[in-house]
Amino acid sequence: MANHKLLLLAGDGIGPEVMAEVKKLIAWMNGHGMGTFEFEEGLVGGSCYDAHKVSITDETMRKAEAADAVIFGAVGGPKWDSVPYEARPEAGLLRLRKDLALYANLRPAVTYPALADASALKRELVAGLDILILRELTGGVYFGEPKTITDLGNGQKRAIDTQVYDTYEIERIGRVAFELARKRRNKVTSMEKRNVMKTGVLWNEVITALHQREFKDVQLEHQLADSGGMQLVKNPKQFDVIVTDNLFGDMLSDIAAMLTGSLGMLASASLGEADPKTKRRKAMYEPVHGSAPDIAGQGMANPIAMIASFGMALRYSFNMGKEADLIEQAIAATLDRGLRTADIKSDGMTVVGTAQMGDAIIAEMAKLTG
Ligand code: IPM
Ligand code: MG
Repeated sequence: MANHKLLLLAGDGIGPEVMAEVKKLIAWMNGHGMGTFEFEEGLVGGSCYDAHKVSITDETMRKAEAADAVIFGAVGGPKWDSVPYEARPEAGLLRLRKDLALYANLRPAVTYPALADASALKRELVAGLDILILRELTGGVYFGEPKTITDLGNGQKRAIDTQVYDTYEIERIGRVAFELARKRRNKVTSMEKRNVMKTGVLWNEVITALHQREFKDVQLEHQLADSGGMQLVKNPKQFDVIVTDNLFGDMLSDIAAMLTGSLGMLASASLGEADPKTKRRKAMYEPVHGSAPDIAGQGMANPIAMIASFGMALRYSFNMGKEADLIEQAIAATLDRGLRTADIKSDGMTVVGTAQMGDAIIAEMAKLTG
């Protein structure tokens, strides 16, 4: 069986705790003939800054380039609030995305039946929800230049961020959206702010033209991103695939996460262009939640998003859809048994810690395959 080379970057805060559960899962899968995964580990974020004064080293970047997939935990925390901007923990994550050219960020928001009551919304609005937010990840205001703060010398400063998109960037993320929709419920909703932003005008134009040219069989709809956010909490099940830019995607995916009960439930995959010869894509998998410094080190973090992110690696990097399904079924079964981490607890459920949740999911995998 093929050897799958992973680079694990646990990062800061709860990152190492939730990554520990992925390591257990990898060991279990290797031990049960479900893969031959090898992994190396590296530092990223604040923990890397503490050791090397940068948020990711060139050596770790080389390992990330060489790996079949990068599995990423979370970065950041108040401890690093005053480090230089270039070395802040998030810069490591942004460099990985940019240098590996991971332009397509898939953030599925799926409500597990057992958790429909944990959502802030009414059960009937979210029960059975299965939407996919596709966020453009290497362009827009996150990376546009100039990006500066200038002292104007009169007691005032001026801050500039630049939102910039070229046709090809919109087209390639649009193509991913339409292709994914064809395998789902065949609907794409594109979100931008064409009423105030030139990038929104171009975004709308390029997506519309691409649709006309190559994807007429897919239903396409446009929404302004602000009202799209409103629709996401009003009637989330109207959506199938939502495609949007880097900043709107960041915000809308946090909103979508809460539909599922907790930010601790949402996995993500960040994919680059497929190599024309090998068909392989560079890829990184990370939970949407952050480093949650307030609960770090207490063994109470929810490892489900991290484990589900590893499941996405199986699906999108290793063509192991069956095993990925198994992980999802094991998560659902564990929730059905009434086990909950603190972030998703509700009356009558058993609250467990990070390690117990990880063990319980592996135990369900054993049952499902036994
Ligand atoms: C995310 C995070 C990151 C982002 C931060 C940590 C830089 O919020 O992945 O959604 O803004 O992209
Ligand atoms: Mg975010």
